[in-house]
Amino acid sequence: MTHRARKPYIAGNWKMNLDRSRSLDLIKTVKGRLGDGGDREVAFFVPSIYLADVTAVAQGSPLGVGGQNCWFEANGAFTGEVAPRMLREVGADRVLVGHSERRHIFQEPDDWMGRKVRTALDSDLLPIYCIGETLDERKGNKTERVLKRQLESGFEKVLAVDAHRVTVAYEPVWAIGTGETATSEQVATAHRSIRKWIVQRLGEEAAGLIRILYGGSVKPDNAKELMSIDSVDGLLVGGASLQAETFLPIIEYDR
Ligand code: PGA
Repeated sequence: MTHRARKPYIAGNWKMNLDRSRSLDLIKTVKGRLGDGGDREVAFFVPSIYLADVTAVAQGSPLGVGGQNCWFEANGAFTGEVAPRMLREVGADRVLVGHSERRHIFQEPDDWMGRKVRTALDSDLLPIYCIGETLDERKGNKTERVLKRQLESGFEKVLAVDAHRVTVAYEPVWAIGTGETATSEQVATAHRSIRKWIVQRLGEEAAGLIRILYGGSVKPDNAKELMSIDSVDGLLVGGASLQAETFLPIIEYDR
């Protein structure tokens, strides 16, 4: 299966940016431009507090809307956390799991990841499971080992039947928000080893359904080159997803 056998997936992660009115304006603009969505999947990952409003505006369009994080219990004494079923209830259809900022700033450990991915799936949310090495890990030649460890934890409870609902995002930590993009060769090598691991875990057929995105300083001027890498099925975009002027050209990377 070639990478274009999988529908390209362009996702914007707003992080803790924008405000309510700028969020809704951006959704309206992208929605207007997308039409029926056609040959690509586009989604925004939105601060939970704006999800209900954003999903209301996105309604009737193919735009996906997701949470940036979730907990792995349905309810209970977890002050400050959001359950996947709550994201679902306000209209989200997907969620990020294991974003590098969750892992590194908020110290989320590997052993939460499998449960988060599983609970997301069981709550009818499409997870994007984020992985990636730090600069020290890359310099120490540990990239492949780190990616394997992160895959082991995130896929702990993923079965072949879940594959069509799971996406992986490779985001080298040193490339996130730094303006420094990984080279095509670095991306291709990492994506190949991720896919190889998934094939070994879930089998060729199921693994072939899983998209692997690249993230880390994706901009309008590097989106086309990144998408031309055979093993890249889509992009996870932070800073450049905050404005229509920078996000639309990324969605339309091939036009
Ligand atoms: P960036 O963020 O595009 O601003 O580097 C990417 C991400 O964190 O998903």
